[in-house]
Amino acid sequence: MVTSNDIRATFLNYFGRNGHQIVPSAPLVPRNDPTLMFTAAGMVPFKNVFTGQEKRPYTRATSSQKCVRAGGKHNDLDNVGYTARHHTFFEMLGNFSFGDYFKEEAILHAWTLLTTDFVLSKDKLLVTVYHTDDDAANLWKKIAGLPDEKIIRIATDDNFWRMGDTGPCGPCSEIFYDHGPSIAGGPPGSPDEDGDRFIEIWNLVFMQYEESANGRADLPHPSIDTGMGLERFAAILQGKHDNYDTDTLRALILASAEETGQDPDGKFKTSHRVVADHLRAASFLMADGVLPSNEGRGYVLRRIMRRAMRHAHMMGAKEPLMYRLVPALTRQMGQAYPELNQAEALITETLQLEENRFRAMLDRGITLLKDESTNITSGGALPGDVAFKLYDTYGFPLDLTQDALREEGKSVDVEGFNLAMAEQKARARAAWAGSGEAATETVWFELNEKLGATEFLGYSTETAEGAITALVVDGQPADEALPEQTVFVILNQTPFYAESGGQVGDTGFITGPDNLRIRITDTQKKLGSLFVHVGVVEAGTARVGQSVVAEVDHERRGKIRAHHSATHLLHEALRRTLGAHVTQKGSLNAPDRLRFDISQPRPVTPEELAMVERDVNAHIRENTEVTTRLMTPEEAVKLGAMALFGEKYGDEVRVVSMGGGSDEKSAWSIELCGGTHVVRTGDIGLFRIVSEGAVSAGIRRIEAVAGEAAVTEVEGESKLLAEAAATIKAPAAELPGRIIQLQDDKKRLERQVAELQKKLVMATATAFEDINGTRALLRNVGDVDAKELRPIATDLLKGLGSGIVALVSTADQKTAIVVAVSEDQPQSAVDLVRAAAAAAGGKGGGGNKAVAQAGAPSAAQANAALAAIKATLAG
Ligand code: ALA
Repeated sequence: MVTSNDIRATFLNYFGRNGHQIVPSAPLVPRNDPTLMFTAAGMVPFKNVFTGQEKRPYTRATSSQKCVRAGGKHNDLDNVGYTARHHTFFEMLGNFSFGDYFKEEAILHAWTLLTTDFVLSKDKLLVTVYHTDDDAANLWKKIAGLPDEKIIRIATDDNFWRMGDTGPCGPCSEIFYDHGPSIAGGPPGSPDEDGDRFIEIWNLVFMQYEESANGRADLPHPSIDTGMGLERFAAILQGKHDNYDTDTLRALILASAEETGQDPDGKFKTSHRVVADHLRAASFLMADGVLPSNEGRGYVLRRIMRRAMRHAHMMGAKEPLMYRLVPALTRQMGQAYPELNQAEALITETLQLEENRFRAMLDRGITLLKDESTNITSGGALPGDVAFKLYDTYGFPLDLTQDALREEGKSVDVEGFNLAMAEQKARARAAWAGSGEAATETVWFELNEKLGATEFLGYSTETAEGAITALVVDGQPADEALPEQTVFVILNQTPFYAESGGQVGDTGFITGPDNLRIRITDTQKKLGSLFVHVGVVEAGTARVGQSVVAEVDHERRGKIRAHHSATHLLHEALRRTLGAHVTQKGSLNAPDRLRFDISQPRPVTPEELAMVERDVNAHIRENTEVTTRLMTPEEAVKLGAMALFGEKYGDEVRVVSMGGGSDEKSAWSIELCGGTHVVRTGDIGLFRIVSEGAVSAGIRRIEAVAGEAAVTEVEGESKLLAEAAATIKAPAAELPGRIIQLQDDKKRLERQVAELQKKLVMATATAFEDINGTRALLRNVGDVDAKELRPIATDLLKGLGSGIVALVSTADQKTAIVVAVSEDQPQSAVDLVRAAAAAAGGKGGGGNKAVAQAGAPSAAQANAALAAIKATLAG
């Protein structure tokens, strides 16, 4: 049997041989079209190449593109399980020409590949063309030799393919396979075309136009886009009528049967199919970075997962089922899609987590659903408020409830459901209005309610397209923003990180049609989920509804990343060095530095800081991968993740692990964190602590630099050292010895100077005067160090025997005064020094009756001090 893997390889190799670049599948989350939820056709990644906006080094390509049709415009979710050919996930094989070949070669390739490499019988094939497309009809006749009745002209949009309301489009020609008269159904265009006899296998689109808001225009060059659903083609080559009977899907169905003990083709046939299809969609979405959430793509993923989980539950699975099927999936598809193997752990854990949590609510929800629906007769509808309660309280997405009722021929009153949802919003609004929030925040509340959460793409990309969903100018929503206006821009999705968790908001540019250019200087988060880009329009006019390109300042983000990851390593190093009492009290992760505040009762010693720094750098050099997982807060804490006490976390938390072993359990640092991080610790480069100090009682602050900033810091330190060495004229290594020597020299010289000053004063100050019968020696000794005055004064007094000595000095532009009084004198040295100080412009004075000293802030009145003493003695 030719396997799906063989078919994919044969297809790609055929076109590879014929000059086509084999391009790996693009991610399921489109990078180039903000209006698309998921990549839903092979041409999506090439959209801008067709229109000429983007250039590639090749003009022909081939791919096997992962596609998801669930949520958004293309949604097949409801039909999965019940039909032979609906999937939420499928693979589209295609060949593309970007202004290279056109209809003739496209038809020739398709025909050759089908009839030679895949050896399909020519008799089994027929085609459709757009009713006006004579060229295509003639080419089919010429190349394939098909008779007129096998070239069917179709006048409907079935043969005019467009990606959406806008984008490249053109007439198309579809190739059909005829299973023969034993199967019911008529040829395309006939009344019973929906039967299973004639199956479309390949669609060749002759891309010629571009549809835009301004109407239809010609593409720069006629181009080719083709799409062949691998699953349905495999069914034909494997002789099956049902895509779910082909090798890959059948293997997953058998795995589901094995794990649940339920017959693969028995009464739970539909459930097995749902499980198999949804397992693929969910796993591939997670491998491309989508994780379950309550908004946007994450919610579509959650809906897919929960729908499958209900079926697993129905089949009586006692334990979570989905995660146990992951090995079967990687066995089937891991080789063609290595991203599946890489993300296997994440997929397994997330499936298990989601199923465990959902099962807790599922039983009660199902009971409620049963109670409320038993009395509804077939064809009837479940009241909307019940469906809403299931949604709101038990986590049942609307389509899950619909799917459950479908089996009994019942439906949901969707209008009533929407009404109940609107009522809940109205209650939230009333509560908000009463909460006393600032009026300026009202605009954000209203936008958040209207637009829902912004989808953040910045974990996996720094450039992405987004649609402008709102503009706020001068505090009010606006339809447009003009050059030089300051504007707050909201996009449906963005790679810009909004400030939170200590990490600063991203900056960069938003560009768009007609040279629109908005410089973004900050990104802030409002109400926890609305990303607000703060900017100034530099050129063009921003308008709500425009598709724009949002590009983060990559260099700056790189620097922020290095600092944020370094903070995690620092946190752990501090705990290991100082103790488990260390908890985070605040942090800042900016492009040029990091700041980290910790609870710590005493200063961190230089030795401890050196140890911490060494530890961090060792983990940087280890260069281990930084991993991110999603889990419940409880699980994260169980794992040992450092959570911020008192911080509010949602249903799920991101857990960032780095250093040590490759799984969380042996990781060195594990933290709950929504920030952006380096891929491997080595990307941090270098880490350097710059300062440590007190913030408040019990809280210390460490400032540090990482990456390029750390290199700059170290360069600065080296330069300083070199300058110091050059000044001292010694090698840097000798600096400490030299400095000690200089300090010793200085002390010695100071002592010598003091001795000499004393000697000088003693030698010159011999003559005393008699004031009112007291022998007084009053001197201004000039530039003598203040602390030398006292010993000089007492020595002089000794020489004098009886009397008083008063010395003032004017060193350092200050007045210093010392008075020494012999015991036999009635005066107190303290009184005299106080009088002197007051005269010199100073205050106070201290000592005892025998010796006292005082000072004044300026040297100008030094002599007035002596005059005051003289006046006091004179009475
Ligand atoms: N883009 C075309 C399709 O999806 C080939 O059918």
